[in-house]
Parts: sequence; C-alpha cells; structure tokens
Amino acid sequence: MSEHQTEGLTPVQLAVVESVAPNWRHDPYRSYDVLRAAGPFIPGPMDTQLVPRYREADLIMQNPDWSHAEESELLHPDSDVELPGSFLWMEPPDHTRLRGLVSKAFTMRTVEGLRARTEQVVADLMDKMLAEGSDTEVDLLESLAYPLPLTMVCELLGVPAEAHDEIRHMSAAIARGLDPDALLSPDELAARTKAVHAFTDFFSDLVAQRRKDPRDDLITRLAQAEAEGARMTPTELLGTLLILVVAGHETTVNLIGNGVLALIRNPDQFAALKADPDLAAPAADEILRYDAPVHLTTRTARKEITVSGRVFAPGESVIVLFGSANRDPEAFADPDRLDLTRYGAGKRVNRHLSFGLGLHYCIGAPLARLEMELSLRAIASRVKEFTLRADPPPYRPNLVVRGMSELFVRVEAQES
Ligand code: HEM
Repeated sequence: MSEHQTEGLTPVQLAVVESVAPNWRHDPYRSYDVLRAAGPFIPGPMDTQLVPRYREADLIMQNPDWSHAEESELLHPDSDVELPGSFLWMEPPDHTRLRGLVSKAFTMRTVEGLRARTEQVVADLMDKMLAEGSDTEVDLLESLAYPLPLTMVCELLGVPAEAHDEIRHMSAAIARGLDPDALLSPDELAARTKAVHAFTDFFSDLVAQRRKDPRDDLITRLAQAEAEGARMTPTELLGTLLILVVAGHETTVNLIGNGVLALIRNPDQFAALKADPDLAAPAADEILRYDAPVHLTTRTARKEITVSGRVFAPGESVIVLFGSANRDPEAFADPDRLDLTRYGAGKRVNRHLSFGLGLHYCIGAPLARLEMELSLRAIASRVKEFTLRADPPPYRPNLVVRGMSELFVRVEAQES
C-alpha cells in the first residue's frame, strides 16, 4: 500500500489497512495494538466488524448462535468453484454427523498412538537437515515444517507417498484461496479453481480404489460410511478429505516455522528449552499463542445477539482476529513476550484462541501439538544454533493461514 493511498486515513483506519496489507504480513501485531486500543468492535471490510480483543473473541467463538456457514458467501461471493462441502463451514445437525465420522481418528488417545511414528519421521528429517545445513543454508520450511505434517496427515488418510508432492501443491493453492476473493489476483483465483478440480479428481480415484481394495486407513473407513448411504454423500466425503488435508498441514507448517523463528529471536528461551526439553509441550502452546498460524475467522449472527453492549442484527458478520486476541494485555501478562513456561503445569493462564473454540474447535489440535512437541524436542537436543539468512524472512501474502514463504537458516548441530 503506497503512502498516497493511505493519505487522509485515521490511525485506526490505517491499522485496519495494515492488518490485512501483504507488506505488513511479517508483523501485523503493531496494527493489532492500535485496533485493540480503539475498542471492542472496529468497522472492517465487507460491512463486517473486526473483533480485536480477547473478551469478545472468546464470547463469540463460544456462542453457537454465531454461524460459520455463511463464510463462503461473505468471502467468496463471485467464486466460480464451490469448495466441496466441508464441515468447517456447516452447522448442526450436518456438522455433528460429519465431524462424528472422523473424530475418533483424532482423539488424544488415537493420536498418542502415532507418537513413535511421528518421532521417526522427525528424526529422519532432522538427520537430513543437519547433514545439509552445516555447510549451506537450508529452508527449514522445506526440510522440516512442510514434510512432517504432510507426511502424517497423508499417512493417516492413506494417501500413497508418491502423491504427497502433488497434494502439497493443490493444498497451497486452496489455502491461498481461503482469503477473501477481493484480495486474490486473477492467477490465484484460477489456480484455486484448478486445484479444487484436481483435488476432486485425485480423491475420487483414490476412494474408488479403496472401495475395491480396502485398507486400514481413514479413506477406506470414510468410503465405507459413504457406501452405507445416509451417513455421508459423495460430495461430503470429498469435502471432508479436503478440509482434513488442507487444514492438516497448511496450518502446522506455520506453527513449526513460527516456532523456530521465535526461538532464534529469543535466545534466552531457546537456551531454556535446551536446558529442559520437557518444556516442549507447554512451549508448543505458547508459540501457538505468540504467533498464531491461523490469524482470523468469520462468524455471522443467526439471530439478534448482544456482545459487550453492542447489538448485532441477524445477518451481521464479524471477523475475529485470533492473532490480536492472543496478544491482548487484558488476557495475558506481558503478551508480547515469548515465555515457554507460560502454559506449564499448574499455571493458571487463559487459553489461547489459535485452535478456535466451541463447535468448530480444531479437530487436529492433538496431532498438531504432538508434531510440534516432537519437533521442539528434537531441535532442543540436536541443534546448537540456527543462523537466519534474513530477518524478517519473506512472508506469503495469505491472511487467514498466515506464515512465511521460506525460512533459510544455517544449522549448527550439537556435539554428541
Ligand atoms: C497448528 C496447527 C493448526 C491450527 C493453528 C489449526 C487451527 C484451526 C482453527 C482456528 C480452527 C477453527 C476455525 C473456525 O472456527 O473458524 C480449526 C478447525 C479445524 N481444523 Fe485445525 N488447525 C491446526 C491443525 C490441524 C490439523 C493437524 C488438522 C487435521 C489433521 C486440522 C483439522 C481441522 C478441522 C477438520 C477443522 C474443522 C473443525 C470443525 O469445523 O468442527 N487442523 N483449526
């Protein structure tokens, strides 16, 4: 955004612009400070109200009278391609039925069963990264942050290893396409359309194969649920696979990337983690709070709702700014400080909103936490130092699923 275009704006209007501007993706936090100080609700784009503070964000996310089903129309009014019906954008009873069909695969207990396999994948990726990263800079997103969650979600679903790359490219175009259409270039819109078609073709074939030749994987189980009729339609099956694949790695890549960047910028915290690798689990939550991988969501009032004295008419929409709520000084002491002990055992701290809350609370939270904990444990015990090529590193323009486009580092291994 040029100076000319922002001339004449008030500081709050400027903060609204900067909180969505691609050239501020590396640090939207200062504009969030301005928004929070200005009030609980700030007029935003597309007749929405921005919700920058924790209190209102928490209340809205918990209240099922705020619907998520209208998001598609709000953000993608002219879309020529329907993202197939994923339960993230549905309400009960459909949401309950479809979420119920996959929820068993993501319980803490089931996910704990993936610990050994996740450890192995992390160890293999670290071996490779440490071998390459001592002589030359490596892109940590390519060497660890992408392949780990992509491998885990693909294995869980039953996507063959040779297709992982193809899945990654389709997902990236779809994740970019989650942003409002108004912010996407014609090329990005075309790439999303192409990716959704490619995704649909790829998974239709895979489902057909699994019907013929069932395996012990989630795609087979979902294909059986669909075959049994009433429980799931063919479109819902594709929509469920789409949301699991895209949400299952496009988010966690940013958690791992943001975490490594935060450790490099806060050497005292990196030292604390190395001294006590058991900090890895609470550290995962602190990093989620400190630099949220999903920065915002939308909700639309289903009936008249009053929040902090403001009356919302049915049909009015809000944009809940998770990234801002997580840095609200009214909710978190010293919110701009990374403190890996903040979520330690016995501490009474507000939950962060990075996994959302309420009906649509992230189903993959246990898996994301496990992947992050094990990445941090491996980094704590095997990496002596990371050296950044550029600070800040370049960011993708994405607004909803925010993160870097690359994270080049030199990696010095710990002496064993
Ligand atoms: C750090 C990683 C992750 C973050 C930050 C994250 C964040 C979120 C957020 C904020 C929501 C709620 C959105 C809303 O209410 O508008 C959500 C929902 C969801 N997430 Fe995640 N997610 C992560 C990892 C995963 C993983 C690993 C999976 C699956 C393998 C996953 C699958 C889903 C699904 C299916 C939903 C929709 C739940 C529903 O509508 O009931 N996520 N996630």
